[in-house]
Amino acid sequence: MDRKEFLKKCGFACLGGSTMMALLQSCASSNYFAKTILSNNQIIIPKSEFLEIKNNQTISRKYVLIKNAKFSFPIVVYSIAENVYSALLMECTHKGCELQAAGIYLVCPCHGSEFTNLGIVQNPPAEENLKTFEITTDHENIYLHI
Ligand code: FES
Repeated sequence: MDRKEFLKKCGFACLGGSTMMALLQSCASSNYFAKTILSNNQIIIPKSEFLEIKNNQTISRKYVLIKNAKFSFPIVVYSIAENVYSALLMECTHKGCELQAAGIYLVCPCHGSEFTNLGIVQNPPAEENLKTFEITTDHENIYLHI
């Protein structure tokens, strides 16, 4: 490979990297911390927290995040299907880094483990699945039992 070809390839690699960073930042900014109510060892999330109005259109969020003083990591609540949810503690089971939600996966920034939206390990080095929370629902709310 000559010098010109090398520089051309490096230029495309840099462009690809900056595009990827912009894409990741836009994903990160889509994280939404839901408004919740704490009552009798339950975190109550109105189902309306999964709806977002953008440009006069109602869009469904795939997940919302929750912060609770009882846990040092956020909890992510995924909407899996109509009236089916999963709630996962965002603590990596490898060495305890905080996971990042990336669509329907959770990714660890420390060593690259990946988990599904049900908390199941997809990629090592983590070997154990994530901590999950029991969930019940009614027509208005989601109840996380903590
Ligand atoms: S702490 Fe998450 S992969 Fe190591």
